[in-house]
Amino acid sequence: MHTALRLTIAALVLAGLSWVAIGLYGDGEPALGAQASELGGIGARACQKCHSGVYDEWAASAHAGAFVNPEVRKLSNEYANEQCIDCHAPRPVFETGIAKPPLPRTARRSEGVDCAACHAAGDHVAASSPTAAGACLPRLEPALKSADLCASCHDQHFTIAEWQETRFARDGVGCIDCHMLPSQRPGRAGRDHRSHSSTNIDMLQKSVELTVTVDGRTLRATLENVGAGHHFPTDERSRAADLLVRELRDDGSLVRLSRLDRLRNPYRDQVGAAAGLPYREESPLLEKRPESTLLPHGVKRSYSLELLPECTQVEVVLTYKKIPFPTEPAEILNDEKSFAEKKAFVVHRRVVKVP
Ligand code: HEC
Ligand code: HEC
Ligand code: HEC
Ligand code: HEC
Ligand code: HEC
Repeated sequence: MHTALRLTIAALVLAGLSWVAIGLYGDGEPALGAQASELGGIGARACQKCHSGVYDEWAASAHAGAFVNPEVRKLSNEYANEQCIDCHAPRPVFETGIAKPPLPRTARRSEGVDCAACHAAGDHVAASSPTAAGACLPRLEPALKSADLCASCHDQHFTIAEWQETRFARDGVGCIDCHMLPSQRPGRAGRDHRSHSSTNIDMLQKSVELTVTVDGRTLRATLENVGAGHHFPTDERSRAADLLVRELRDDGSLVRLSRLDRLRNPYRDQVGAAAGLPYREESPLLEKRPESTLLPHGVKRSYSLELLPECTQVEVVLTYKKIPFPTEPAEILNDEKSFAEKKAFVVHRRVVKVP
């Protein structure tokens, strides 16, 4: 860009004159936002200049990677399925309608769910503080802090509806209270834009509680969703958690490997995936997805298993996988690649001696 023009635009930005100016400055792209309505033209780097702390957090988030994510590109056939662009490179939700499905952006798709997707609101930036003032024209938009903002993209598999059934919704504990934790900014408090969730082992561990006891030759286990503000797992249907038991001899060799439960909302073409499992989703949402074995918040499930005579100790493992391949217990535990790539996690592991 011509230096004089760049300076003029920088001055415009400082004067807080218009979104279009910010868009030009940040992109180094031609007049993309020639009409003020094309707010998708505002690049994240335009915001980075003044909000570098927030930018760095966002850049490390799943939101920033939403369009370039190899799993999404593969499943959408390199976006030959154009519907997939709607949420993975969306236009601003304040523009297309809070809690309504978003529309696809034409510019800078590689920035995924960018700053503008959540903050651009017509001629100003959606802010949570009524007194904020700055070049980006922050103005209070109460919807910014509400679950409705997230609902625009996160309710196609009923995560919002699940949350509405919990005590969190009744007590006013929303999505951002668990997913955007406090983050200190120079001179004021902010919120962590990394949006931690199930790729964070601490979040996974606090979401479910596992107890294991051996009573004579009977193994008893319970699993309770204590910390997720919705079902466990939630959202994307490829997520799965498996509760597995390894019965072992004294020398550590395997006697038997069994599955106590698999928590999953399978794809429509996987009818029968829940066959043989002990529980179905304990919630009215089951009517909408009869194959679901997801674990609702506040629900505790109980399991028992008669142990084989050679077994002298048992190991109970809860695994979580983002993409549920493979599905057989032995393959799950031996899938070292997925564990190394943080696509699979051991959430809990308990070893108990058999008396
Ligand atoms: C030229 C500097 C500048 C640019 C560029 C800029 N901002 Fe700001 N922004 C500020 C200042 C100054 C404030 C007020 C002080 C504060 O809250 O940090 C502010 C406040 C905000 C707030 C409100 C914070 C609150 O307390 O509620 C949000 C949200 C925000 N900016 C988002 C953005 C986004 C998104 C972009 C990019 C589209 C952007 N800003 C670009 C300077 C800038
Ligand atoms: C209504 C909004 C929306 C649409 C439309 C949408 N997605 Fe998504 N997608 C999401 C959200 C939100 C997540 C994150 C959910 C989660 O992490 O559980 C996600 C996550 C994913 C993931 C998981 C990524 C990973 O690394 O685990 C894949 C793969 C994916 N989407 C593919 C697609 C494909 C393919 C399409 C088109 C057929 C599509 N999406 C359309 C909102 C959407
Ligand atoms: C404009 C669409 C959109 C909005 C609005 C949105 N998200 Fe997302 N979110 C996505 C997409 C798409 C992904 C999946 C990115 C990927 O992995 O490819 C995602 C991923 C996530 C993840 C990571 C999930 C994982 O598997 O690690 C969390 C957590 C999350 N979003 C929370 C929120 C919260 C909380 C809000 C509301 C403040 C919100 N999102 C608003 C589209 C959106
Ligand atoms: C009480 C805290 C809490 C609240 C409230 C909460 N979550 Fe979560 N969320 C978690 C925990 C813990 C996990 C990790 C365990 C899991 O995947 O269920 C998680 C996981 C997720 C994931 C990743 C799902 C996956 O497996 O890929 C998404 C997406 C998500 N939450 C979105 C939301 C949205 C949207 C809301 C608001 C409707 C919300 N959460 C409310 C605690 C919470
Ligand atoms: C998925 C939605 C989402 C995306 C993407 C997003 N934000 Fe935010 N942002 C929020 C929400 C929600 C809040 C309000 C949190 C509060 O005040 O409690 C917020 C708060 C802020 C604040 C004030 C609080 C703080 O942490 O300093 C600033 C500044 C801000 N965002 C800038 C940005 C910038 C810059 C980007 C891109 C690099 C960005 N946001 C991307 C949802 C988002």
